Amino acid sequence: MNSIEVFELTKKFGSFTAVDNVSFNVKEGEIFGFLGANGAGKSTTIRMLCGILEPTSGDAFVGGYSIVKSPDKVKLNIGYMSQKFSLYNDLTVEENIEFFGSIYGLFGKSLKQKKEWVLEVSYLRGKEKLLTSSLPTGIKQRLALGLAVIHKPKIVFLDEPTSGVDPIFRRNFWDLINELSSEGITVIVTTHYLEEAEYCNDIILIDSGKIIAQGNPKQLKTNYIHHPIFEIQCENATDIIECLEKQNFVDEVSLFGNNIHVITNSNLKEINQILELLSDKNVKSISKITPTLEDVFIHLLEKKNENQKN
Ligand SMILES: Nc1ncnc2c1ncn2[C@@H]1O[C@H](COP(=O)(O)OP(=O)(O)OP(=O)(O)O)[C@@H](O)[C@H]1O
Ligand SMILES: [Mg+2]
Repeated sequence: MNSIEVFELTKKFGSFTAVDNVSFNVKEGEIFGFLGANGAGKSTTIRMLCGILEPTSGDAFVGGYSIVKSPDKVKLNIGYMSQKFSLYNDLTVEENIEFFGSIYGLFGKSLKQKKEWVLEVSYLRGKEKLLTSSLPTGIKQRLALGLAVIHKPKIVFLDEPTSGVDPIFRRNFWDLINELSSEGITVIVTTHYLEEAEYCNDIILIDSGKIIAQGNPKQLKTNYIHHPIFEIQCENATDIIECLEKQNFVDEVSLFGNNIHVITNSNLKEINQILELLSDKNVKSISKITPTLEDVFIHLLEKKNENQKN
């Protein structure tokens, strides 16, 4: 069953189209990743789906309610952790919990129970009186997520919840997301970290307001790159990239840390071809690899830029 159904959703700011005719479905209980570069239109889409921002055209059903006809019903039935604001920094941990609890109509015993749960998931038991501004980012984000689901919504939107969080805490934050999902909560999450996309059941990639790829991580890796990818470990990457870019059998070359990824455009003995070509360069190893999501996204974005140039 679908938790969210989006139909040709568009948002214009004046003559600028931030979200352009976007349609997709999100299944109940899944973790749905929303990826795209800065300014791609992720937050704008999420704000529309939360019933906060009115679409220019199109509609979406979130938990069965239309964001155009019943935005207030939508708001009551979801949790939302926004990108810019999620907690009052000048309140203590306890005051934030009480404030957000009261917004969602929690008082007395039910608030007390929820408060215990939020303190536990954010590792803040016994630290209720700390000022929120004094918390490390990772803890703050866990507190914010706890508060976004304090009223037990069936759907929660997390807009870049791990931005600025260190890798260990990021992993740890995803354990919490998985926990929510295993309880049947549908999670829609935006991120810039491609390794996080691997943890999602389904993903869409948007660019300039348009969907350019859609599927689960496995589908994305098999459906969008049709030629072999090679990883070259080497010392003088710039030199090698320059050399490869000139070759007819090479489609794309990109730098991944200290390594180079090469997408070829034929299926013929490329590995030997590359080895021969780079015989006088300092290549440590070369191997055929399964594409990462980063390979897929770079490939799609480069293809799109090329099409725009032509
Ligand atoms: N209220 C607004 N008025 C005018 N333009 C806006 C408004 N809100 C967003 N935009 C523009 O719409 C585009 C999409 O913005 P959006 O915030 O949705 O991107 P994003 O994918 O969330 O980016 P980021 O990764 O930086 O958060 C951007 O070019 C942005 O400048
Ligand atoms: Mg954003």
